Amino acid sequence: FVWTTKTQSITSMATDEENAGNTKKQIAKLFEASLKATVPNELDIEPLVAASTAKFGDYQCNNAMSIWPRIKGKGTEYRGPPAVGQAIMKNLPPSEMIESCSVAGPGFVNVVLSKDWIAKKVQKMLIDGIGTWAPTLPIKRAVVDFSSPNIAKEMHVGHLRSTIIGDTLARMLEFSNVEVLRRNHVGDWGTQFGMLIEFLFEKFPDWEDAKETAIGDLQEFYKASKKRFDADPVFKERAQQAVVRLQGGEPVYRKAWAQICDISRREFDKVYQRLGIQLEEKGESFYNPYIPGVLEALSKQGLVEESQGARVIFIEGFNIPLIVVKSDGGYNYASTDLTALWYRLNEEKAEWVIYVTDVGQQQHFEMFFSAAKRAGWLPADDKTYPKTSHVGFGLVLGEDGKRFRTRDSEVVRLVDLLDEAKFRSKSAILGRDKAADWTEEEVEQIAEALGYGAVKYADLKNNRLTNYTFNYDQMLNDKGNTAVYLLYAHARICSIIRKSGKDIEELKKTGEIVLVHPVERALALHLLQFSETVEDSCTNLLPNVLCEYLYNLSENFNTFYISCKVVGNEEETSRLLLCEATAIVMRKCFDLLGIVPVYKI
Ligand code: ARG
Repeated sequence: FVWTTKTQSITSMATDEENAGNTKKQIAKLFEASLKATVPNELDIEPLVAASTAKFGDYQCNNAMSIWPRIKGKGTEYRGPPAVGQAIMKNLPPSEMIESCSVAGPGFVNVVLSKDWIAKKVQKMLIDGIGTWAPTLPIKRAVVDFSSPNIAKEMHVGHLRSTIIGDTLARMLEFSNVEVLRRNHVGDWGTQFGMLIEFLFEKFPDWEDAKETAIGDLQEFYKASKKRFDADPVFKERAQQAVVRLQGGEPVYRKAWAQICDISRREFDKVYQRLGIQLEEKGESFYNPYIPGVLEALSKQGLVEESQGARVIFIEGFNIPLIVVKSDGGYNYASTDLTALWYRLNEEKAEWVIYVTDVGQQQHFEMFFSAAKRAGWLPADDKTYPKTSHVGFGLVLGEDGKRFRTRDSEVVRLVDLLDEAKFRSKSAILGRDKAADWTEEEVEQIAEALGYGAVKYADLKNNRLTNYTFNYDQMLNDKGNTAVYLLYAHARICSIIRKSGKDIEELKKTGEIVLVHPVERALALHLLQFSETVEDSCTNLLPNVLCEYLYNLSENFNTFYISCKVVGNEEETSRLLLCEATAIVMRKCFDLLGIVPVYKI
């Protein structure tokens, strides 16, 4: 075992070419130059640039206030932060991006972007494609470990959240040209298999020859075998033996195990298929053969210690150690995760390993991340790659404020939940006049787009750490911040373009965007902030940031559409191009959120 993972630092600033889509970074680049000229003796000052919320400008640079204490009393020519701000403004290199600047309050430098420049940028995207607005991240490969249900157990709403959030994060990384290994870390190696296999042997002696598995409903089978396990000590003993034999690789046991895994897999796939999720299964069992080697290497480093019969790793800041070998000699969740991390870093050369689970597992992740740092697999800080991130999320609640369950307080079957969302949106569609013109296939497609899109968006729009209440009526409402509303907003834009009778592809080449009205400018500026928003949403692992952007985009569009006549106006060409750019950016947002767009309503 050789630790080949190298530490690399984040490239501080990408090249101009790479920044092309990222307005904030382009502005930051100008301020970087200005800061060098303003305080040449202060090295490595990172420009603090943010989109403005105040009406003084579009972006602001906030460095003056923090520079002042650094230079005060060192014979500086400046007299306080506002003067530093003035100097930062004066030293800005000339740029076609900027229309005007001002200094406000304690030293904020405000920048108003040039209208022509904004228009040109949007136009350029129309010609070169939205891909030119993809963020640039300093890594090549990432692992996103998501969904990860447990074989033979119910895939529950927690796994649904993991599936939805993980898929979005993977999509954002992929859009940023990062190769993503989408990993389904299924729980296929737990002690429950001993019990299941023994029960299979007992109940269906000819299980091996049967063409179709006799198990039928795996959930029922699990319950029945658990009952047997709890009631009969002799059976329990046999089940425990079975685990050992399975893990020892005995063929019959492996075969029974594989059959049980297959049944589960078919159930999971129904959910993935509905939601359009791509995942590659590498379950816990995959890492099992690597565990001894990894633990041995950690032991040689002196990390693994003996404690009450178990082998453990002590971690600073935690009163309990991380158990890597149980007192009965078996491995556990942590041994597998530690080994999987080793594999991902060293064999798969991932630079960022992201885990999406409920926040309840946070401590587990913190502990084995710390162990990996102690072992030197990861740099000690969380800023440098390779790095690991745990993406935690809150609970899904029912209307009663408790954990989301069915009426009989059973775990909700995800397939049923998704089918219900589709069914409801189908009923709503069929209630509309226009549905009469649609083919049955179209109705199906739109019902799926709306129904599944609604479930996804309801999950993604809130900060993932907060619990959210599952409510069909709310998520399927065509007003408010819902997928249905947004999908209809997109369809409406498409219909404006269609009804104009103009060839939009032709207009892209021959027409020009001119931002006449202030609301046109506001819309175009919002479009220009797409790239930095995706980057922010992706690097901070917060899909709600992108949802908020999308919702604001549709709001901006509405304001524009109310104030600006499109078809038949002398600015028609420019405005149609703005409509098209909005539709393109909306579609990319949908794509990143895993939502299928709708083109007509
Ligand atoms: N199977 C686990 C569960 O259902 C989630 C696994 C998450 N991934 C991981 N590498 N631990 O809770």
